[in-house]
Amino acid sequence: MPFANAFMERFGLSIPIIQAPMLGAVDSRIVTAVSSTGAMGTLAAGALPPPVILEEVADLKKQGKPFGANLLVVPKVDPDSETVDHAVHRLAKWRMEFGLPEEFRPNRWSEDFRAQLDALVEAAPPAVSFTFDLISREDIAAFQKRGTYVMGTATDVREARAWAQAGADAIIAQGYEAGGHHGAFLSDGNDRAVGTFALVPAIRAVTDLPVIAAGGIMDGAGIAAALLLGADAVQMGTAFLLTPESIISQPWRKALENAPDDATRLTRVYSGRYARGIENKFMREFRPTEKDIPAYPVQNALTGELRRISGQAGSSDALSLWAGQGVNAIREMPAADLVRVLWDETREALVLMHKRMG
Ligand SMILES: Cc1cc2nc3c(=O)[nH]c(=O)nc-3n(C[C@H](O)[C@H](O)[C@H](O)COP(=O)(O)O)c2cc1C
Repeated sequence: MPFANAFMERFGLSIPIIQAPMLGAVDSRIVTAVSSTGAMGTLAAGALPPPVILEEVADLKKQGKPFGANLLVVPKVDPDSETVDHAVHRLAKWRMEFGLPEEFRPNRWSEDFRAQLDALVEAAPPAVSFTFDLISREDIAAFQKRGTYVMGTATDVREARAWAQAGADAIIAQGYEAGGHHGAFLSDGNDRAVGTFALVPAIRAVTDLPVIAAGGIMDGAGIAAALLLGADAVQMGTAFLLTPESIISQPWRKALENAPDDATRLTRVYSGRYARGIENKFMREFRPTEKDIPAYPVQNALTGELRRISGQAGSSDALSLWAGQGVNAIREMPAADLVRVLWDETREALVLMHKRMG
């Protein structure tokens, strides 16, 4: 059954699935695997220094398949020392528990976004996507001039309109169910967050741009539902976390395999920005003071080492166990096989529905 639209045709895709960029969970191996199937892989470039962005995008381009590269739009920050001291002291007990020196202050808060962006324009991958904020009309135009397609993440209709007005080529509609960080930039991404089922048609109604549905999609029925709601393709993250191509630590893997019902929560305790993951000890302890935590990227940089050491020590207590609400439907199989299974399921779901309708 052919499935065609302007988005699919632009890249010569045969399967309307994008493997979500997942910083800290996947590397370029999964991009190669997914892009080989007729679906689209995405390189999570958010933590990569500019020279590595150039190198990894060049390597992927050599394979001749469509793919995307993703950046987090992170501002340069200069937090006051009182805020930082407070946040550092809050983490001291946890750091000592994991055998780390009591205090830690990183020498910078994040990669230089401007330098990453310039490198990505130069690298000119087939597609780019952004989350956490808008990029300027001029930057979008610079990508398009190099032949690169630009997708912006929106968690509500206002954000979708903002991306459309800035000249983006497509909107990634990221619902409340989604695992990992949420891209909200016009609201705080919590109280008013919209679920994928309501978000996709709402964004569809205000723009003619392709809409990519993301959040809680785990199987073919979910993909079919998203397409029926008006999406041109889906972006899936959590579904790929147990593939052999995933680089997550053992305790994270175990937490995904054994997630209880209703396992995930939205939290800003790890990074200062709302993200969805399986609830654990660190999340529970800091929940009451969650609003006091410094905004991204400060808290993210302050907890980075602790999260890594927790994973290495085999403990999930202080590890950010990012996962979406669909985590209980996660399957363990190679990424390329998963894409094929998902697309077979989608077609079966649609045929079954057609039969039921007589
Ligand atoms: C572990 C993890 C890491 C993520 N990292 C990124 C990222 O680097 N950039 C980004 O735009 N989205 C990131 N996301 C969000 C995904 O792009 C996508 O919105 C989400 O996975 C969709 O929901 P699902 O997990 O229910 O499929 C991440 C998601 C997860 C689960």
